[in-house]
Amino acid sequence: MNPKRPLVLSFHGRPGTGKNLVSSLISEHMYAKGMSSQYVHYFSATKDFMHEGKLEGYKHTTEQHIVAAMQACPQSLFIFDEMDKMPSGIMNVMKPYLEYNQPVEGTDYRRSVFIFLSNIGRNQIANALLDHMQQYKERYTLKIRDLEEIVRLPSCDLESTFKKSVCVRSSPISAFIPFLPLERRHVEQCIINGLFEKGYYQYGFQIDNDTVKQIADEMTYFPENTRLFSTTGCKRVYEKIDLIMQHD
Ligand SMILES: Nc1ncnc2c1ncn2[C@@H]1O[C@H](COP(=O)(O)OP(=O)(O)OP(=O)(O)O)[C@@H](O)[C@H]1O
Ligand SMILES: [Mg+2]
Repeated sequence: MNPKRPLVLSFHGRPGTGKNLVSSLISEHMYAKGMSSQYVHYFSATKDFMHEGKLEGYKHTTEQHIVAAMQACPQSLFIFDEMDKMPSGIMNVMKPYLEYNQPVEGTDYRRSVFIFLSNIGRNQIANALLDHMQQYKERYTLKIRDLEEIVRLPSCDLESTFKKSVCVRSSPISAFIPFLPLERRHVEQCIINGLFEKGYYQYGFQIDNDTVKQIADEMTYFPENTRLFSTTGCKRVYEKIDLIMQHD
């Protein structure tokens, strides 16, 4: 296959809904060493772009860093985390690599994969799912095409990093991927996984529903009237497990 442009995916959703998890699964499918592969380049707005709490100074280090990484390994997986917090100049630096279907300065980027992660559109996604469920429809019957516009529009509304590049007609984003807020039953599955991973359980028969429920009670849920969704998805489940298990 000779793609005409790189694959550019934009993942949107609340904290703890699996955006990093899915990115790392993709990296494992692409490369044996997964996220540790030399072909995986991970940039995080708050880790790589902040200098003493400010975004100043990013120009000197980060732009060069990104361009150097892209030029060194053009057929790579590039993950940009916390896109909503990225300085807007970054997208301008990236744009030629994302959209040109001709080699840039002699280097071919068309086999690269770019993934952008952000919380942009998280409330709109939750509202769309709530509307859907209020019509007594199952969560899994909500289709990606029903949500694509719902996450694209807030990306355009914001004075965001995305704005200039996403709201153009020939957007370089191949697909907007919404991550639905997790329900309590999903959080309970994460808790059970965590209890095994952390060694509190070795066998299925040890699963104690009251303990799982007690840990799930430590999480916060919204909206206030139904408390259907976990505010932070499965994030911080591990800490809550220790809190309850070491307390007993
Ligand atoms: N759908 C899911 N299935 C299984 N585990 C999940 C799922 N979503 C999240 N988790 C678990 O919850 C934790 C947090 O997930 P992850 O870091 O992928 O969230 P995120 O969407 O990147 O959140 P943030 O926006 O805060 O960065 C991880 O331990 C992950 O394995
Ligand atoms: Mg994340």
